[in-house]
Parts: sequence; C-alpha cells; structure tokens
Amino acid sequence: MMKILFLDQSGKPGGAELCLLDIAKPYRDKCLVGLFADGAFKELLEQQEIPVQVLTNQAIKVRKESSLIQGLSSFGQITPLISEVIKISHNYDLIYANTQKALVVGAIASFFTNRPLVYHLHDILSLEHFSKINRQIAVTLANRFASLVIANSQATKTAFIEAGGNPEITKVVYNGFTSKIYDIDESKIYYLRQNLGIDRQFVIGHFSRLSPWKGQHILIESLTHCPDNVTAILVGDALFGEEDYVQELHKQVANLGLEKRVKFLGFQADIVPLMKACDLITHTSISPEPFGRVIVEAMLCRKPVIAAKAGGAIELVEHQKTGWLVTPGNSLELAEIINHCRQHPELCETIAQQGQIVASQRFDLTTINQQISQLLIGVISCGNEKERLEKEIFTADE
Ligand code: UDP
Ligand code: GLC
Repeated sequence: MMKILFLDQSGKPGGAELCLLDIAKPYRDKCLVGLFADGAFKELLEQQEIPVQVLTNQAIKVRKESSLIQGLSSFGQITPLISEVIKISHNYDLIYANTQKALVVGAIASFFTNRPLVYHLHDILSLEHFSKINRQIAVTLANRFASLVIANSQATKTAFIEAGGNPEITKVVYNGFTSKIYDIDESKIYYLRQNLGIDRQFVIGHFSRLSPWKGQHILIESLTHCPDNVTAILVGDALFGEEDYVQELHKQVANLGLEKRVKFLGFQADIVPLMKACDLITHTSISPEPFGRVIVEAMLCRKPVIAAKAGGAIELVEHQKTGWLVTPGNSLELAEIINHCRQHPELCETIAQQGQIVASQRFDLTTINQQISQLLIGVISCGNEKERLEKEIFTADE
C-alpha cells in the first residue's frame, strides 16, 4: 500500500479537515497526518487510529491582507517546519497537501525529496477570501509542483482555472459520506427537542462555524418574516478568530427581540441528533460555498434543506427536487421558502426523501475513496514512468 504524508495547517476540525479524516482512514496503517497546529482535529485522528503528528508549535501568520513583504518574512518563521517535513517526506511515497499553507510547505518538500505532490483544494480562490498574492502563490505552486489538484467541486475547479490554474492536472472529487451514520434511531429525538425547549416550535437548523460569510445573520433576519413559533438553532462556533461576528449575532438577536427564538448551541461533535431534531435545515453562505458538507449531511439525515444558490451548493441541490436554492443574502426570499415549507409538510417529506436517496448514491464514501485511490495510483505510476525514462536517457548518454 502506498505510503502517504498528509499535511494540513489546522488543528481545528473544519470541513476540509473532516474530509481529510475520511480520506486518510484507508491508509492508516502506512500514512502520517502532519499538522501545523495542535487541537481537536488531532484528537479526532487519534480516535480513528490515524497516525498524527503536530509538526510545529508556532502558529504561522499568513493573513488575507498580507503583502508580499509580510508573506516573505513569514517564510523565515516556517523554515524549521519545512526542514522537518523534508526529513519526514523521505519515508513516504507521496505528499498530500490539504490546505494552502500545507501546499507551500509540501511544494518545497516535494522539490527537495522528489516525492510527487497532490493538492486537495477546498477553497474557491476568489479575491473575497484570498489576497491577490496568496492566490498567486497557491496557483503558481500548484501548477509548478503538483502532479494532481483535487477540487472539491466544479465551482472550485472553475475558480482555480480562472485564477490561472492548470486544467490538465485538475480533477473534481466531491466529499464522501457514510450514509448509515446519518440514519439513527429517532425514538429519542422528541426528548432532545423537549430538553432544548423547542418541542412545540417549527425548528430551523443552521450547522456551520460562526463566520460572516456563512451568513447566520441572514437566517436571523429571515425569522422576522416568519410567525413566532419559527425557531432557529445555530450549531457551530467561531473556529478561525471570528469572535466579533459572534458578538454581532447576539446583538442582532437582542435588537430584533428574538432571544426566545434563536438558540446558540456552540460547536457539537455529533451533529446528527440535532439535525434530526430540526424540521428544516438552512445553508446561508453569502459568498460562494466551495462544497458545503452540511448540505449533504442534511440530505443524508432526510431533512429538507434550503441552500444559498452559489458555488458548489448548486451542484449538490436540485431546486425543488432534492431541496431548495435561494439567492444568497436575501433573507426575504429565504423566509418565503421557509413559510412555504411550513405550509407543505408533505412536499417537504417527499423532497427530503428524494434528497436522501440522491445524496447517498452521489456522495458514497467508498466510491469517492476509490476515485481518489485511482487518481493517486495514477500519480505514482506516472512518477515511476518518468523516473524510468529519465534513467534510460541518463544511461543512453553514458
Ligand atoms: N460541524 C460540526 N459541528 C458543529 C458545526 C459543524 O461537526 O458544531 C461540521 C459539519 O457537520 C460539517 C463541517 O463541520 O461536516 C463543516 O463543513 P462545511 O463544508 O459545511 O463548511 P466549512 O466550515 O468547511 O466551510
Ligand atoms: C472547505 C469549504 C467547504 C467544503 C469543505 C470540504 O472548508 O469551505 O465548502 O465543504 O472544505 O471540502
């Protein structure tokens, strides 16, 4: 079996990390996940018996607004990390970078160790989220050093190519899911709703880290256009320093007098029972979502889902067949669909059922992992062939 060195800059379990957890699992006997920060993600990997090592204690500071000078000065900071990764890479057949900073480090290690590099791109490289220079660095390094770029959706792939990325090395592979995890016994859900004090409400769930672009404020605003028994639960926390936004959300709830209708539940390790406790699940990102795991998870929980019509979400939901798509940032339109769902429970049930069937077929983890395995085998055999040809040329020269 192929020995893979996975690299990820985050110690926290965001969507890209949860996706990596599922990808690394089949390789756990021979892989290592190298993280650039400690945190709950490390524990999740350990729980699944996936070898993991935190490769640095220093947080790497490369910010969205960073300039070239700042970018280069932070380079000095990552030198010990780079030499550590180079040292480790010698023991592996392939380097798999799962985030931007992992790409930078992985590209350098790939250059020095001649190990092929794969870049799993989880982000839409738009200027909204990335400074021009960081975007340029990502595209240049990927084009120059990666044998393969895995984009988590067609939307992500398109944005990568628009930013100058090489289409020939870029393949779309969606996130995979184990559908039976989402198919739990629902007999206790009533008590969960009771404990949360939402048993008599029409409950809308929002499951995302709290961050301005995830648009929780849009859902809160939309409640003002819904009757009083419509309640929202916000599951998730600020993962990447967005505490100001959390304060803003609390203020917004207070200003609109919605204290009784909005519950902040913080980060939850097991979202499934909470999804099951909802009547409807919304996704409200105001900038294009690269993939949107929560949308698929809602479908797998057999819950009707309303998603913001942009980015990867359009590839996941078929409007009025497996869910609904609404204009991003439009709380009135969102409220209209919420009210439509409230008034048509049977329609919701049909759509949710259809969503579950389609999602369990399209995003089956075993199939997705096979796709990835085939792609990685291709990368390795291509590398071996290159090496063989280089050797042949070299011997012919002698
Ligand atoms: N999630 C979780 N607990 C929470 C909130 C979110 O486990 O309290 C999970 C959620 O189920 C999903 C992931 O975090 O699998 C978020 O991934 P997504 O692709 O939706 O968004 P991202 O945060 O990666 O942009
Ligand atoms: C990123 C994206 C999210 C995607 C996840 C897994 O975190 O923001 O949209 O679902 O990666 O690919």
